Amino acid sequence: MPVPLFATSLAGRHEDIVLKLAEVTASGRYILGPEVEAFEEELALYLGVGHCVGVGNGTDAITIALRALGVAPGDEVVLPSFTFYATAEATVNAGATPVFCDVDPATFCVTEETVRAALTPRTRAIVPVHLFGNVAPAAQLRDLGLPVLEDAAQAAGATRAGRRAGALGQAATFSFFPSKNLGGLGDGGAVVTDDEDVAAAARRLRFHGSEDKRTHTEVGYNSRLDSLQAAALRVLLPDLDAANAARRTAASAYREHGLPDLLEPPSLEAEVEHAYHLYVVRTGRPDELAATLAARGIGARGYYRTPVHRQPAMARWAPAGGALPGTDEAARTNLALPMGPELRERDVAEVVEACAVALATG
Ligand SMILES: Cc1ncc(COP(=O)(O)O)c(C=O)c1O
Repeated sequence: MPVPLFATSLAGRHEDIVLKLAEVTASGRYILGPEVEAFEEELALYLGVGHCVGVGNGTDAITIALRALGVAPGDEVVLPSFTFYATAEATVNAGATPVFCDVDPATFCVTEETVRAALTPRTRAIVPVHLFGNVAPAAQLRDLGLPVLEDAAQAAGATRAGRRAGALGQAATFSFFPSKNLGGLGDGGAVVTDDEDVAAAARRLRFHGSEDKRTHTEVGYNSRLDSLQAAALRVLLPDLDAANAARRTAASAYREHGLPDLLEPPSLEAEVEHAYHLYVVRTGRPDELAATLAARGIGARGYYRTPVHRQPAMARWAPAGGALPGTDEAARTNLALPMGPELRERDVAEVVEACAVALATG
């Protein structure tokens, strides 16, 4: 039986969403408005933060949040190179200089040590990325005395030490791209924070730098969450914890079926409740394994094989000497295997068995 890498489904909520969209369509309010305000309140409550500002996508969310935190042209922002390109692109678009730090290839996330090694007197903010649904030690990074902006695009619903990803730094950003754990029907994103001033700045920046739609105090963006997305997300948010629990059950099944005897499984830190946006293992020759699995109809894919600091557009900001050994190792060895709330135990067993056969004959 084919097992896709991930299946985007509305998990039995299709009808509810259609009804809700019909309501919004009839209301005539399509951008911001009461649906967006209600979603902002509900997400803030779920995360345990004071404020949520809905924006157009997760990339704009980072640019807007950095500027709202006071990052200005010429400031340095420390971020990992092992992430989706958007984290760095958004940093450059905020006028800042990206300074790439390394990751621990076991967790795929930054550590206090890798961040510390990248700090200079010009550092104005730190952007840990909660990659693949794992949670970087963002609260610990606050001890370094600089604003911490979590890129939580891949970690909706994950926790560290009992607190949600998104509630660990001074601010955090989310993406509601359809494949995310909390995904809408198109593009969407959010900035969340406990800081009222940061929230107010983000609200202005998403609307052309204006608080009252008449006076423009900053050069901002047109980046607003639309009501149809917010309405769909309001239907899906109450299911997020159950969906993430189902992902964790699938992750446990991988272990029970013997995956750690074959491949390096995702790291498990006692205080982290992983959201398994992706189930990413490590192995010596991941692309050969992926090709063999593909021949059996099993989806597998390496992520970020060319880390951001090695992308042509980022060459001028690559670290001197180019040495980010943890990043290069993560980029070379990672492989995402099928994962999702609807992944069944028998699918997991089939994937593990296929890996065992491939590795025995490879
Ligand atoms: C880690 C990370 N940051 C930022 C983004 C950007 O989000 P969006 O696609 O909504 O702009 C994404 C996803 O696409 C992501 O995975």
